[in-house]
Amino acid sequence: MMTYLTAAWAVSHYPPLERVLRQDLGGRGALERPSSLPPAVVSLLRFRGTATVGARNRSGFAVVPFRQATASIRDTTIMSVLRLTQFTDPHLYGDETGSLRGVVTLSSLTAALAHAQLRDWPPEAVLVTGDIVQDDPAGYAHFRRLFGSLGMPVLCLPGNHDEPQAMRRELNGRPFVLGGSLDLGLWRIVLLDSCLAGSASGRLSERSLAELDEALGSARNRHCLVCLHHHPIDMESRWLDRVGLENAAEFLNIIDRHRSVRAIVWGHVHQNYDGLRKGVRLLATPSTCAQFLPRADDFAVDRRPPAYRTLELRADGSILTEVVWVEQCAAGSSRSACSAA
Ligand SMILES: [Fe+2]
Repeated sequence: MMTYLTAAWAVSHYPPLERVLRQDLGGRGALERPSSLPPAVVSLLRFRGTATVGARNRSGFAVVPFRQATASIRDTTIMSVLRLTQFTDPHLYGDETGSLRGVVTLSSLTAALAHAQLRDWPPEAVLVTGDIVQDDPAGYAHFRRLFGSLGMPVLCLPGNHDEPQAMRRELNGRPFVLGGSLDLGLWRIVLLDSCLAGSASGRLSERSLAELDEALGSARNRHCLVCLHHHPIDMESRWLDRVGLENAAEFLNIIDRHRSVRAIVWGHVHQNYDGLRKGVRLLATPSTCAQFLPRADDFAVDRRPPAYRTLELRADGSILTEVVWVEQCAAGSSRSACSAA
């Protein structure tokens, strides 16, 4: 069954492949491998060929037993929906009892992760959008212990309270991915470093902007999710808007040049935001610890509980996302769907 569903998906999104798939489904002739195919589709065809016939090798596809192929069905190269879970701004300390604005941050992050693991788990990857520690590099060891053995990529970028050198040292190597861009299925995830040394505000360097432009420009037919710590739009909060992304206009100019961008997601603001700008979804995610009161002129803590965000990134570029408030799950969550394609 899954084999045919997968084939139908490929046909709908890559019409030129129809002839190729028909041949294989009908058992007439060998599966072809057009050189112009994006890597995700080549992988999909490899899976299909193997799963369907088990021993086909005329087309150069690796031959593996059907059971093994089935076991890899969650391989990101063949998924029509890519699921991410985003945690942001945990503000960890080396001291396990360390608290920020009345919330013990390690306990709060642990609870948020445990909560997520009871719902729609596992995603294909976890996304963490900065402020992993609260100016205390000893906090990274807790993060590594919690997230290092989840069995999936953990995509990280720094926030203004992170310690860049310690972060690179402590989160070095798999499963952690620090910065750059990563292709998962039909999506390209771009991780930006918006930190400005010694400042709560953010700024993308000329190099970061150039890398963003290049990553979006080379995405071909992949949809792009752009991630950073600082907010690139006005949050209608006087104190927060003093510490946003200083060169947001330059950033958004690049976004506007690339039709592949489907969403921008950030942390830093410790509150939920869900908007749309020129067809691009704009998403801010609450912290796994204390929240800030939305649209406040002066700093104010919001009494809302810790939270995280789930993201379903679909093959057609649309996004289904949900902010899950950890202490209020039974009472509901803010779930919304929007086609940003
Ligand atoms: Fe933060």
